[in-house]
Amino acid sequence: MKLCVFDTAEEASRQAALLIDAAVRNQPATVLGLATGGTPLALYREMIRACRAGTDYSRVTTFNLDEYCGLPASHPQSYRTFMDANLFSGLNIAPQNTHIPDGLASPAAHYCHAYEAEIRAAGGIDIQILGIGSNGHIGFNEPGSAFDSRTRVVSLTPQTVRDNARFFHSPDAVPRSAISMGIGTILEARQCLLLGFGEKKAQAVRAALEGPATTDLPASALQSHPDVLVFLDKAAASALSRRDQSSCHPVPKSRDENIF
Ligand code: PGA
Repeated sequence: MKLCVFDTAEEASRQAALLIDAAVRNQPATVLGLATGGTPLALYREMIRACRAGTDYSRVTTFNLDEYCGLPASHPQSYRTFMDANLFSGLNIAPQNTHIPDGLASPAAHYCHAYEAEIRAAGGIDIQILGIGSNGHIGFNEPGSAFDSRTRVVSLTPQTVRDNARFFHSPDAVPRSAISMGIGTILEARQCLLLGFGEKKAQAVRAALEGPATTDLPASALQSHPDVLVFLDKAAASALSRRDQSSCHPVPKSRDENIF
């Protein structure tokens, strides 16, 4: 893991966008894994800006991490609606190259298997963008998810329902299940870019980076991935034990292994 702490979420997002822009310019058929939520919004704005400035997305393929079960794509709170509004409509990406799990798919198990096959057929994910839940989830892989889990239907924890209620008119309207790429699926991406912003994420970030790798904290699975970049703002980094965060550093594999 390599950790980069920036003064602000905006700066972290700008740097993340530069990284993605370089990848797309270098390899026009890049396969991106995408996330929803508040975290990637500034990144997506920067990607749109770069596309308007000339970066070509016409050969890029994307796969989103997850989608709520029971919401049609046209629902205002579906992740399809979110992605169209906040990213895809601003890129010259081919709509058929954008993949988001279908929250109405039936039978779901068969559909999830097919989603994985589509990722493989596209050559696998080059860069997977990830947020982190306040409970340490990545995608909708809630605490307890196996590190070798695959795309499947998952139940959302009460904490996640509470966290996401802000997007709905009432907590009761938040779906209780979702289709999510598994942790095993995520770990197959060639590179993962984990973004964490705000004090609310500080404890989950600390546990993910400095705690033991445990299914109690799904993001800690990333410790075993060979190429993970963690971009934080100062608030999200505030619980980390290391204080020298002025530039990007490798994260030790365990607290005991002092490589600095
Ligand atoms: P957020 O959610 O970006 O809205 O904070 C992140 C997540 O739950 O993965």
